[in-house]
Amino acid sequence: MQKKLLEFLKLIAFRYLRIGKPNYPFLLDPSQLAQLIVEFERLKSQSGSIVEIGVARGMTTRFLAEHIMVEKLENKESIYALDIFSNFQKEDVNFEIENRGKHSSDLNAYGYNDFNIWKKNFLDFPFVKAIQADCSTFDFNTIGPIKMSFLDVNLYLPTKNALPKIYEATISGGVILVDDVIDEGWMDGSYQAYMEFCSDLGVEPIIIGKRCGAIYKP
Ligand SMILES: C[S@@+](CC[C@H](N)C(=O)[O-])C[C@H]1O[C@@H](n2cnc3c(N)ncnc32)[C@H](O)[C@@H]1O
Repeated sequence: MQKKLLEFLKLIAFRYLRIGKPNYPFLLDPSQLAQLIVEFERLKSQSGSIVEIGVARGMTTRFLAEHIMVEKLENKESIYALDIFSNFQKEDVNFEIENRGKHSSDLNAYGYNDFNIWKKNFLDFPFVKAIQADCSTFDFNTIGPIKMSFLDVNLYLPTKNALPKIYEATISGGVILVDDVIDEGWMDGSYQAYMEFCSDLGVEPIIIGKRCGAIYKP
């Protein structure tokens, strides 16, 4: 009886209401989500942590957590989810305005976030470890060695500061993926910082899809 009612409600939702319309909840392009899984699988036999830096509501964290659950790897893998869990850092915003010609109205985001609520939302995933920190000053060796990281903090300064520290804590063969590596819009600081880091390393930039910069550590 209950199943019949459920099927009936589904029929109403799909045929007559917009709530039946599929949506895409992720902030990343499909090619980025795919690349995360490709790298995860490539590095599955290696020990090392997985780190997402800049997690916002946790959509990509949840995506990776789902993969770990489906593959039954929850006792083997851990994801560190690092964020300031508040609005952008003042010095990062000031740098964008004073040195990169950005407007303060573009740089007011993520003030909704809350560390305790975020952790509560991930209670079903004990292998996800949330860290409240500024990636510019955080010591990534404390959660290393890292085999895969995803850096997604939008602005120039935190991307610029974090990249060498993440790289140092990354294993040989590991990868750093950087979001928003695209030379347009208010997030073009990620692009600039990624390009500068590749130049410092003396490696060619690798862009996957439209905006995912990759750095492989030899
Ligand atoms: C685009 S969102 C992350 C989206 C997330 N990766 C996803 O795919 O769903 C950017 C996040 O970077 C965080 N962030 C910005 N500056 C930061 C900093 N200096 N240190 C740590 N996190 C920072 C913000 O709080 C925000 O949650």
